[in-house]
Amino acid sequence: MATLNDEISRRRTFAIISHPDAGKTTLTEKLLLFGGAIHVAGAVKSNKIKKTATSDWMEIEKQRGISVATSVMGFNYGDYKINILDTPGHQDFAEDTYRTLTAVDSVIIVVDVAKGVEQQTRKLMEVCRMRNTPVIIFVNKLDREGRDPFEILDELEAELKIAVRPLSWPINIGAKFKGVYNIYEHSLDLFTPSKTQVTERVEIENVDDPRIDEAVGEKDASKLREDLELIEGVYPELDVNEYLAGKVAPVFFGSALNTFGVKELLDCFVKIAPSPRPVQAEERQVNPEEEPFSGFVFKIHANMDPNHRSCIAFVKVCSGRFERNANYKHIRSGKMMRFAAPTAFMAQKKNIVDEAFPGDIVGIPDTGNFKIGDTLTEGENLHYKGLPSFSPEMFKYIENTDPMKAKQLEKGIQQLMDEGVAQLFVNQFNGRKIIGTVGQLQFEVIQYRLLHEYGATVRWEPLSLYKACWIESDDEEALAAFKKRKHQFMAVDRDGRDVFLADSNYVLQMAQSDFPKIKFHFTSEF
Ligand code: G4P
Repeated sequence: MATLNDEISRRRTFAIISHPDAGKTTLTEKLLLFGGAIHVAGAVKSNKIKKTATSDWMEIEKQRGISVATSVMGFNYGDYKINILDTPGHQDFAEDTYRTLTAVDSVIIVVDVAKGVEQQTRKLMEVCRMRNTPVIIFVNKLDREGRDPFEILDELEAELKIAVRPLSWPINIGAKFKGVYNIYEHSLDLFTPSKTQVTERVEIENVDDPRIDEAVGEKDASKLREDLELIEGVYPELDVNEYLAGKVAPVFFGSALNTFGVKELLDCFVKIAPSPRPVQAEERQVNPEEEPFSGFVFKIHANMDPNHRSCIAFVKVCSGRFERNANYKHIRSGKMMRFAAPTAFMAQKKNIVDEAFPGDIVGIPDTGNFKIGDTLTEGENLHYKGLPSFSPEMFKYIENTDPMKAKQLEKGIQQLMDEGVAQLFVNQFNGRKIIGTVGQLQFEVIQYRLLHEYGATVRWEPLSLYKACWIESDDEEALAAFKKRKHQFMAVDRDGRDVFLADSNYVLQMAQSDFPKIKFHFTSEF
């Protein structure tokens, strides 16, 4: 029987991130094809959320319903057990993506060769950097006209603020694209457009092998040799430890749509990507190899069907062996709980699981017991941290329009905040409730769900704020003085922490220079 250590070392839990349209869905699908988890291209549709008009969010929710099935995609590849955590493509759900990144051990970033690094990729990379998450970059759509690969490498370094090291190299791009030289394994793959097949590989000894000239022609072969020489001169050999520390990102080139360069990526990924890593709890660091089970909830997915109001809480296993029907402690409430029907997704099928290991995600049917960030253990009082809340980008006052339903509204708001749909702040000056989100869609989602699930009607009132930032200081007097001066702009978040609501960048900068003893944080994890 496989030991706990065996199970841990064969697991790879990661997310694919990109700016919409770079090819994340396509790449995910091709990885699933290699893993035998699906048999036809076109089977993964969850990320298509972004394609819908933003006003039509009911359609989006329907798709989100479908996407429960693809929230986590587990499959076996050789000796490895791979878990891909899906992240929503729509930027209004960016907060979901940030949280998902707390549950993965590494990340693959997809970049479009023509567009280079785009805004959302930059933002997501910041989150990876905060956590030193190892990243591998896949430069996609080489079959289309795009930018010079050296230029792309420079841009990746500058924009993503990470050193890069190419492990494969394209021979031309666009209409003249001939293939990719695999620097990591010294092989040459010739490009044949294909949606499903694996590529034709030319066996070669090394870069001087005349078979390269035969395969791609003398001119391109000598250009390839020049390029490789330059690469060896400029970029140091890949040091896997540097990659694991999040300091250098290996780069692959290919075309996801044509299943080209994907297998090379996957083969290298399983070899170098980290197996589940130790996780930091407030009390101590927890190693995956520890026998007692522990884990945390990183995502809650509500069922939109009003007749079956239930949720699935997604638990990331951090240590030990999770077992069905065992007794686990829900740390926040102090209650013991048993889970009779935990589920996992394996090869696109949802199954009840009897056990799960570090790196795995289990779905637990929930009727409102869980909050994002909750920890489960066999008894030890651990609190996993590291589920950051980012300063929202849009703010509105939420107003009750039916005084008879005040209680329901209260409950609804609480539940939605527990699920992490948005953030609630209470202005200390006028007592009004403010909802902060990363996108307009969330306001619509909240309004709709409050009505349909809690019977509460609300209206939004505009509020022009630049940022909400969490403040703290070692100097109590300075803190009190700040709060007094800014009393109209002080709020508390739902954990009772002080939040300063800055209505402009100028006001924020002035506050920072006038009150040097106050620390201003733009995420709530500090
Ligand atoms: P996303 O999840 O990152 O948003 O991107 P997605 O995979 O949906 O890909 C966005 C578009 O780019 C899709 O075309 C997809 O077919 C195309 N694409 C992905 N990889 C490649 C590639 O290697 N080469 C080329 N030429 N195109 C690629 P679409 O027309 O928007 O969608 P669809 O109708 O084909 O699904």
